[in-house]
Amino acid sequence: MAVSSSFSVPDQTSHRAQGIFSHLTDSIDRRQRRRPLGTVSDFVVEQLPHYIAEIKGSERPDGAVKALGHSINTIIAGADYEAHLLDLSHSEFGVAKTDVHYLVNCVYQMSAAAGLDRVDAELTVGEPLRRIARLSCQRQRSIDVLSYEDMILSNPLESDPRVYCLGSAGVEERDFCLGHQLIESDLQAAMDALLELRDAVGADAGQCLALCVKSLESANDVLARFYEHMSPDLFSEFRVFYGKNPYKDRLGPSGRFSARIVAVSVLLMGEELFHQKPQFYRDVYRLSEYYPQGCIHEVFRWLSPDNRSARLQPSWLEGKAGFPKFATISPVLKRHGSEIGNMRASCVCALDRFTRMHFRTALKYTIDPGRPIVGVEAAESVEAVLSQRLLTAVHQK
Ligand code: HEM
Repeated sequence: MAVSSSFSVPDQTSHRAQGIFSHLTDSIDRRQRRRPLGTVSDFVVEQLPHYIAEIKGSERPDGAVKALGHSINTIIAGADYEAHLLDLSHSEFGVAKTDVHYLVNCVYQMSAAAGLDRVDAELTVGEPLRRIARLSCQRQRSIDVLSYEDMILSNPLESDPRVYCLGSAGVEERDFCLGHQLIESDLQAAMDALLELRDAVGADAGQCLALCVKSLESANDVLARFYEHMSPDLFSEFRVFYGKNPYKDRLGPSGRFSARIVAVSVLLMGEELFHQKPQFYRDVYRLSEYYPQGCIHEVFRWLSPDNRSARLQPSWLEGKAGFPKFATISPVLKRHGSEIGNMRASCVCALDRFTRMHFRTALKYTIDPGRPIVGVEAAESVEAVLSQRLLTAVHQK
């Protein structure tokens, strides 16, 4: 059964992507306010970037960060935000969770930059803020730090975005997140088309694969805008806020944790990936808490036909059973001729082109300039992570 999408179709995505990284303005047009936590949301949108700029320019950044923590916790202690958080509708709750984790993440990152030790950093985060952060992760199960879902999927980027920077760096930061969100819509469209092909009786295979390739090409167009137009200087201004947590053993919000890329890869070439890159699957299971939970657990259900707890590594990954082919579109394609086979190959090519272009983008903005990476553990090689879904050599055209 296809999952219905609240996102746009590829044509709309390409159109919306034309505006990102255009460097025509240094202010954000907030079309429609989304402030589910009232004063707390107002603070995140209207005051937090100014506090950050002040701390960065301060001669006593340690005192300035502590003052920020105090202001946040005074606001939170002033009303029953815990009850309010639990009452919100699903979509408003997503924005509220983003607000809360933008605050927590900011306090940790700024505390580290100001040289606070762990005890002082925890005191600065404060108990009231920590409590609503914990509650938000209980209502929507997720990792206890700013997640990819908070930053990209729940952030109301086109109406009332949450960003850390002021001026042109803030606009670039919004566009960085928006570009990811647009790619996520394309991936959702590709995933829906592949699910239709895999699960719907009588689905038109040619039509499904044509939509899939079109969606992946649209994602490639958006990624090309990152590669060609994003400013490396502005990127380095906002990148510092999205690093690993400096006090906890936790990775930062990274595109690595896009569950839809995993879903599309599994549907298109899941078995080949298993034979050639089993580490890809091991990593997804090992790091599963970092992914948007709804989508990654849907993928785990496909991959666990024996219905073992979806969190556990499946037996096929331990070599104790065959790969569950029915998670992918391959069994359905066997019923079709070579034309449909070629269309599937075009989809795989488009996804590979995405991965190669992404590798070049990562080199240009992070690896070559030596900026810290956020979604790779110390024991991993970043090159291995960046080619973990490629079935051919990384430098191939
Ligand atoms: C300027 C833009 C980008 C840069 C500099 C960049 C950089 C990186 C880096 C350094 C990694 C390694 C893990 C980490 O440290 O985070 C990574 C992984 C990853 N990123 Fe990005 N990224 C960018 C945009 C995107 C976009 C728009 C997406 C789309 C959702 C994306 C999806 C991924 C994926 C899926 C991985 C895991 C490797 C793979 O499976 O191909 N990235 N990225």
